[in-house]
Amino acid sequence: MAEVSEMPDPLLFTPLSLRDVTLKNRIVISPMQQYAAGPDGVPTDYHTVHYGRLALGGAGLVFTEALCIAPEGRLTYSDLGVWHDDFIAPLKGLADGMRDLGATPGAQILHAGRKASVQRPWQGYMPLTEADRETRGEAPWQTLGPSPLPANPGWPPPRAMTEAEITAAVTEHGAAARRCREAGFEVLDVHAAHGYLIHTFLSPISNQRNDAYGGDLAGRMRLALEVAAAVRAEWPDDKPLFYRLSCIDDEPGGWTLEDSVVLAKELRQLGIDVIDCSSRGLGQRGTPVVVPREQGFQVPFAARIRQDTDLQTMTVGLIMEPAFAESVLQQGQADLIAIGREALFNPQWPLQASLTLMGDGAYERFWQPRDAWWLEKRARSLAAAAAASNAT
Ligand SMILES: Cc1cc2nc3c(=O)[nH]c(=O)nc-3n(C[C@H](O)[C@H](O)[C@H](O)COP(=O)(O)O)c2cc1C
Repeated sequence: MAEVSEMPDPLLFTPLSLRDVTLKNRIVISPMQQYAAGPDGVPTDYHTVHYGRLALGGAGLVFTEALCIAPEGRLTYSDLGVWHDDFIAPLKGLADGMRDLGATPGAQILHAGRKASVQRPWQGYMPLTEADRETRGEAPWQTLGPSPLPANPGWPPPRAMTEAEITAAVTEHGAAARRCREAGFEVLDVHAAHGYLIHTFLSPISNQRNDAYGGDLAGRMRLALEVAAAVRAEWPDDKPLFYRLSCIDDEPGGWTLEDSVVLAKELRQLGIDVIDCSSRGLGQRGTPVVVPREQGFQVPFAARIRQDTDLQTMTVGLIMEPAFAESVLQQGQADLIAIGREALFNPQWPLQASLTLMGDGAYERFWQPRDAWWLEKRARSLAAAAAASNAT
């Protein structure tokens, strides 16, 4: 009898184990701030529904938006927080909800540094001023950074942090990791990209200190490495730790891909498992972009770091087509595919990708049974109707 040859599943839908956590597939919902927190940074019903629908959409791993490790590390008054133990119970509600709906729950932690104290995007995304205090009761606050250099021309400069404040920020990252652990998240991502606090210490454009936290590459990497160590100390050995980098500044004299490789190797020594490869964001909104924006424009960063270190990588950036995502994995350019805005546009993207790559058989294997039963019938009806109309 002829052997039945079975096509292997696409890599996108092959489980991935990281330490003792197994993701059911390699699609990740990238962290995305929702500006929907209650006044004290607490999750609301909106978050329960939003993260629930993303989990139902079929991604293996769903990250929360950035959880701010200190009140002054928020971008806006509507950011979610993780700076106090009172956050543990409501965050546990979000983590449990995602898990119950089939996704591995991940959290991201952030200090926004000199890009803190801004309006929500649809209000202008500009630094808060006295006018915001008058209209909405939202007073600006003093931002912090390595050096008193503003993120954009005309923005209020941050105050250069003292060594004691830097030590406090390291401790706050560790405490935030503990709270995420106690809330039951299974993956943690440290946000060291997009011009926020850690990134501003890494980049020679924003860090002009001449003490132990500035100067040469080792000095500029010091905060990033101290944070990694503090977070790893609080994060269980059996759970994976991700680290989000802006792999390039894409500005003359800025942080480079070579720098990212050096940093990634040191992060690996400290127990980081996955580099979450993003880019840019130091400031200068609207400046020309050297690396053009197109599907997968940040894939080369993930590929290079994966190749030059023993780390696994996640790529993100305008990924929209399942076949493209699959080809990135097949070519060994990344281990995980993260989607951001595509998931806002279509929270069911992962489930739809299973149909695109594997056909209607994917309903039974990957969709919720309560939907799959009906949708398979619907697919058969549609196929029969198409066949009948072709026959006439
Ligand atoms: C509404 C929105 C909020 C975002 N918030 C975060 C965030 O909290 N943390 C983060 O690391 N990136 C954040 N990002 C960036 C995304 O995680 C992602 O890297 C970026 O959107 C590129 O991926 P995409 O082209 O698939 O959207 C945000 C993006 C959007 C659109």
